[in-house]
Amino acid sequence: MKKIVKKSLLFISIIAVLFGIGRFALVGYESFLFIEREPYLVIQTQNSMTIKWQTPKAEIGKVNYGFSADKLEKNLTEKDSTKKHSITISNLDECTKYNYSVDSTSLAIDNNSRSFSTLCKKSDFQRLWVIGDSGERGEGQWLVYKQMIDYIKNDFSKLNMWILLGDNAYESGTQEQFNTDLFLPYIELVKRFVPWAVAGNHDARRFAFYDIWDFPKNGESGGVASKNNKFYSIDNGNLHIVMLDSENPSLAKDGDMAEWLKHDLKANKKPWTIVAFHTPPYTDGGHKSDSDSNSGGRMKEMRENFVPIFDEFGVDLVLNGHSHGYERSKLIINHLGKSDTFDAKKNVLQDNSTCYTKPLTTTKESGTIYLVTGSSSKLDQASLKHPALPFSFEKLGSVILEVTPTTLISKFLTIDGIIADEFIIKKDASACGNDK
Ligand SMILES: [Fe+2]
Repeated sequence: MKKIVKKSLLFISIIAVLFGIGRFALVGYESFLFIEREPYLVIQTQNSMTIKWQTPKAEIGKVNYGFSADKLEKNLTEKDSTKKHSITISNLDECTKYNYSVDSTSLAIDNNSRSFSTLCKKSDFQRLWVIGDSGERGEGQWLVYKQMIDYIKNDFSKLNMWILLGDNAYESGTQEQFNTDLFLPYIELVKRFVPWAVAGNHDARRFAFYDIWDFPKNGESGGVASKNNKFYSIDNGNLHIVMLDSENPSLAKDGDMAEWLKHDLKANKKPWTIVAFHTPPYTDGGHKSDSDSNSGGRMKEMRENFVPIFDEFGVDLVLNGHSHGYERSKLIINHLGKSDTFDAKKNVLQDNSTCYTKPLTTTKESGTIYLVTGSSSKLDQASLKHPALPFSFEKLGSVILEVTPTTLISKFLTIDGIIADEFIIKKDASACGNDK
């Protein structure tokens, strides 16, 4: 009898080890698999832009650029032959549009309408497209994108930035899935905008995510240098945008990411501060922030350890995905517990539906709006009844942000082309009026 038990245990151990080895090999293969990739943009700064692409054969890469698409009079060439190309164009003018093309002998590149803009010191108006959990290719993803294109009347000059809130390529964020779920369906955006993406739990081939993107960890794009690819900030016009990774680094209140965030927000002088990461501190969608164990406890950790920092520095807007729906709070503060501890009298700073006011200069404890928009390609069946999130929709869609130096308007644009939720935050000293 003992022999049978011993043999069974040995057999199970061998299977477990083989499974582990197989899994490790699969993750490695899917993370590092080399595939072709058309040019895309990373690390936008006020005076530079980096263009990356991958060719089937090793060759010397070349980028042509200039102010006119018909006359790309400048060019940069790589020194060495390679399949993985990266060229940084420097000494550019601030807040300026450039056209570019990329030459390759082994990859057919669509060079039609390729352009980029450098970051701006100031701006009268900026429009951002925000998508979450967008990485499932198909009709839903396409229609959500199409509604944004209709909204800007197919005029990409009406868009300034593109933010992705994680789960950017289902099912696992492999090199191939990033091509089929992001780089191909959004090709017209990829040609023109940096896909500023945070990592989601389904971007699980971390080596692929951090291989595809280079991020401004040295403060190149603004903010305090994080010295870590996983969290950084971007200053563009009126906006200070903080990108956090809620999946990989320590989420402890004294962890590197939290410590850096405090330094970064303290140094921030921009009129608007937006923080983006994947797992929401509050949600009653496909994921439940009331569960201590859901999503490895990361929603709880972001709420307990990071919401106090957002409160302290008066962050204006927190953007998340993960739950595949739309959920949005009023201007709230200091809610660190589960939903049954939410007390509107204590936690809601302004009990309005569509209009909120805040001081022009970043002010401590001036309240934050939390917004989950994780339905840009997938939809959950969920109750959406978190008391902190009274505005919620089980609809495919995306968010459009329109920002001036003193106003921020947020619109939830559904797959039907309807603005299902819209609010404004005003820092222009005017009142909101009756808005219950
Ligand atoms: Fe997720």
